[in-house]
Amino acid sequence: MARRHLLDLQSLTGAEIERLLDLAESFEDISLRAVKKVPALRGRTICLLFLEASTRTRASFELAAKRLSADTLSVSGSASSVEKGETLLDTARNLAAYRPDVIVLRHKASGAPHLLAAHVDASIVNAGDGAHEHPTQGLLDLLTIRRHCRRIAGLKVAIIGDIAHSRVARSDIAGLSRLGAEVVVCGPPTMLPTGIETLGCTATSSREEAVADADVVMMLRIQKERAAEELFPSDREYAAAYGLDPQVLRAAKPDCLVMHPGPVNRGVELHPDVADGPRSVILEQVSTGLAVRMAALYHCAGGELPA
Ligand code: CP
Repeated sequence: MARRHLLDLQSLTGAEIERLLDLAESFEDISLRAVKKVPALRGRTICLLFLEASTRTRASFELAAKRLSADTLSVSGSASSVEKGETLLDTARNLAAYRPDVIVLRHKASGAPHLLAAHVDASIVNAGDGAHEHPTQGLLDLLTIRRHCRRIAGLKVAIIGDIAHSRVARSDIAGLSRLGAEVVVCGPPTMLPTGIETLGCTATSSREEAVADADVVMMLRIQKERAAEELFPSDREYAAAYGLDPQVLRAAKPDCLVMHPGPVNRGVELHPDVADGPRSVILEQVSTGLAVRMAALYHCAGGELPA
């Protein structure tokens, strides 16, 4: 692949996405070894620029870089000169003066990684930009589904929750539709953006319709930090109308996977019995994220394919 950046899944072909999934799969066994480290990116430098809160994505990118023997440089919003008014571009250009090979950026503004890609001399990996995309989350979701279902094409995947503010939904829709899945997004009208169907999915406000015969149900939290106003009267009413509990899940296929990108708001979008139940692969998504981020860094830093 000629691309140096990983900015979104919308601009990737199905073949490019499959290639990244295969590469991630080839990295999975490293984390199962006694010595969890390979020299694949020795001498390379990865800058982690996280200007919005993160637990899973940040931890896994840092660990991925270390497992590939790269040097890491971490900068977070609350402990950086962004707090003193420095712009994103100035911050990134100053960090680029240390000549990192890759800058991994999380930012609250949609399009921020694309801005860096156009103006900074380093490969850029999007670790989540506003409500736009979260491509490595999309890839780890795809790899988790592919491992369990042995295919993506032909599956019915329901994505339920705050679609309007979800970058995960956009990356999942792009990746799943490229690989031939039927994607149904669902939420109250206030959380369903008009025109979402143009991304390659159908939309409904009926939870029951979305869950019926689904192979995968992906639950999303309400992204209150991105909404200008309340999108539903209360969490309790939201849970009753759009949450996933054991009773609602009965309408899905018997071996349906339950997924969630995290963080989970237990008792709101996901009943604890479902979150911790036998169909939940939520913690497996987290583990898979490590291999996917190793693949993303390896690809963007121009590493050779492993022997
Ligand atoms: N799924 C996800 O992006 O989680 P974090 O915000 O904790 O990184």
